[in-house]
Amino acid sequence: MSLPSQEPSQPVYYKGVKFDANHSPVAMEMAESFEVRDDDVFISAYLKSGTTWTQQIVSLVCADGDISEVCKIPIMQRTPWLETVDKMGTSEPVPKLLEKAPSPRLMKTHLPYYMLPQQAREGKGKIIYCARNVKDVVVSWHNMRRMVIIIPCGTWEENFKEFITPKEAYNGFWWDVIPEYWRHKDDGNMLFIKFEDMKQDLRGHVVKIANFLGKTLSDQRIDEVVANCTFSAMKENPATNFTKDPAFKGKTRNNFEFMRKGEVGDWKNWLTDQQSQTLDAIYREKMKDLDLTFELQ
Ligand code: A3P
Repeated sequence: MSLPSQEPSQPVYYKGVKFDANHSPVAMEMAESFEVRDDDVFISAYLKSGTTWTQQIVSLVCADGDISEVCKIPIMQRTPWLETVDKMGTSEPVPKLLEKAPSPRLMKTHLPYYMLPQQAREGKGKIIYCARNVKDVVVSWHNMRRMVIIIPCGTWEENFKEFITPKEAYNGFWWDVIPEYWRHKDDGNMLFIKFEDMKQDLRGHVVKIANFLGKTLSDQRIDEVVANCTFSAMKENPATNFTKDPAFKGKTRNNFEFMRKGEVGDWKNWLTDQQSQTLDAIYREKMKDLDLTFELQ
């Protein structure tokens, strides 16, 4: 299977929020009224915050049978992207396709909390939210834009400015989106995790996610999941490092890889002192009433 080549495309808007052209307003509208099942799992994250990593962990924790075989299935098939149209053949909005999918359904989303399916917000199904420190997010997002042809890309300075401008930021303003999810962290159907904590203790997070999903895995099985969720394993795997998948030829620019660095603190190689202070100032102002902290120095 190969996908058509692409050109940079205009962003789309839904409820006044800007999204890149991978997103579909039709699918987003359907997502809000999506009929949720008790065993649905929504893997949610802001752009470039560890979505694919969490998708890999969740799909392997939930996998039956041979993990090495499951690992070969493209991550987008294992965990379809809710607010898009299917680009692998049918062109149907993903929420429509999922109506016919067998349980348990695992889905990825980058939607702000208030755009999630209403029934999920009311407690049905499970939501795993992965957050990452804002400085590494803006760097990773800039590099994603350099790589993916469909997303218009400016210079580092232009992309940075867009990111810190509430109405210009893709998928909502980071400082609005993350606090809203954090306020729901104690909801019975929500697990809130952080990229930086996963880097420190991957095994602990595999166990935490398994417990949250009510899965009992043997120690050997946990080891297998962990081995397939390291940065190096996911970088080698075309099912997770999609730039290695021949189907994506023509959609991305050469010399860029989706699995780029996977580090905490790469922002120190990109942000000027001024840019770093700008992010600190917004952070202090917008997050002052929240007990959510990231290492930002
Ligand atoms: P970098 O660009 O900083 O390398 P998302 O899946 O939300 O788009 O996030 C992508 C970011 O997560 C990229 O960050 C990618 O390298 C990183 N990532 C993906 N899998 C990872 C893993 N197993 N370990 C560490 N980082 C990972």
